[in-house]
Amino acid sequence: MQITHGALLKPAAAHKSENLSGTIRIPGDKSISHRSFMFGGLASGQTRITGLLEGEDVLATGMAMQAMGAHIRKEQDTWIIDGVGNGCLLEPEASLDFGNAGTGVRLTIGLVGTYAFTATFTGDASLSKRPMGRVLDPLRLMGVQVTAQEGDRLPVTLRGPRIANPISYRVPMASAQVKSAVLLAGLNAPGTTTVIEEVMTRDHTEKMLAGFGAQLSVETDNDGVRTIALQGQGKLTGQEIDVPGDPSSTAFPLVAALLVPGSDITIENVLVNPTRTGLVTTLLEMGADIQITNLRLAGGEDVADLVVRHSELKGVSVPPERAPSMIDEYPALAVAAAFAQGETVMQGLEELRVKESDRLSAVAEGLKLNGVDCDEGKASLSVRGVPGGKGLGAVSEGAAVKTHLDHRIAMSFLVMGLASERSITVDDASIIATSFPEFMDMMAGFGARITSKQEAA
Ligand code: S3P
Repeated sequence: MQITHGALLKPAAAHKSENLSGTIRIPGDKSISHRSFMFGGLASGQTRITGLLEGEDVLATGMAMQAMGAHIRKEQDTWIIDGVGNGCLLEPEASLDFGNAGTGVRLTIGLVGTYAFTATFTGDASLSKRPMGRVLDPLRLMGVQVTAQEGDRLPVTLRGPRIANPISYRVPMASAQVKSAVLLAGLNAPGTTTVIEEVMTRDHTEKMLAGFGAQLSVETDNDGVRTIALQGQGKLTGQEIDVPGDPSSTAFPLVAALLVPGSDITIENVLVNPTRTGLVTTLLEMGADIQITNLRLAGGEDVADLVVRHSELKGVSVPPERAPSMIDEYPALAVAAAFAQGETVMQGLEELRVKESDRLSAVAEGLKLNGVDCDEGKASLSVRGVPGGKGLGAVSEGAAVKTHLDHRIAMSFLVMGLASERSITVDDASIIATSFPEFMDMMAGFGARITSKQEAA
């Protein structure tokens, strides 16, 4: 299957809505779904996964694991994987196409880099612009030969050494993908691979690898610096995984319900791992009516149901150190801020420049296009809100937000259109299928007025 976007854009428009109501179950977490396919494909024996996100990004990772020897099938609601065993991936016969998926490609580059075979990685126009040096640099230290496009972009070809060199690596930016890539490379290196992260990022790799039986220790010093040490070449054993709902996808119906008058929705089975809850913390500070109910532990992760009601929000200053726990949620937060009383200031946003799009400028451009007063800094965004959304929406007939092959830009501005005085159009909604294929139906199901039309680019 070849997944491409951009040849045929599918614009969609969101219109002022009222009284969003109902109970929804958000699809599985993207980070955990990628890792479930990867670790299940790598481990000995069988892994059974329920609740997997069946978005294009995750399916690309599944296809890559299949191309390297894993057997993957689906029976009713369960994905069943027969893995190859740690150290036993096969050389892929063709290049591995990851479409739009940054997590898929960066983690798999780590996983495969230390194998003594050749593998080539490709992606769509968005992924091909994103920096891969951050995962290629530690691999080079491990003895991996790298061929890449200028600026360490895709397509990338790797050839691992006969025996990889285990390293100790301080991750230079707050990135769970880089941390994970180094740890996964360490799975096929002798001895101990160590990763030091100064700011804690999402910890799914550490938790899940331990669950699959990897020998791994995590120490946190008094300054919060974490040292993760992994013993390479150990055995991994297949697991049962129930993937909780994605907090990053939750952001869209959550913000929609806060902004649309009369709304009252329940979002079930949401992952509330503390490395992922920065948006909820920030919205609560802004005065959001969000009740976290039915808090429970499921498969080693904290999960809860969220009851969300329309709220009058006020602007806040979001501390930069919160960024890693809400890094994918800034576009949705910026939309919430556009309806808050006063100014919301977001700082520490340098990583937003290298997401599926330059999200900082894509968000600022989209807000301005729809009448919002905001300032884009080098690594910051300030938004001055209009409670009630009066005057917001497309300032000129037919002006469409440019989504730049970025699913979260598309969903954020569709949410904005539900509460703005005038409708908002995005130039492409097809890209939403990378992470949240059910988005349109789910939003319509609780009363959101979103219309789509197919048009040639
Ligand atoms: C992810 C890590 C984050 C996040 C991405 C998923 C992961 O990327 O933005 O959507 O699953 O490890 P960075 O590591 O680049 O911050």
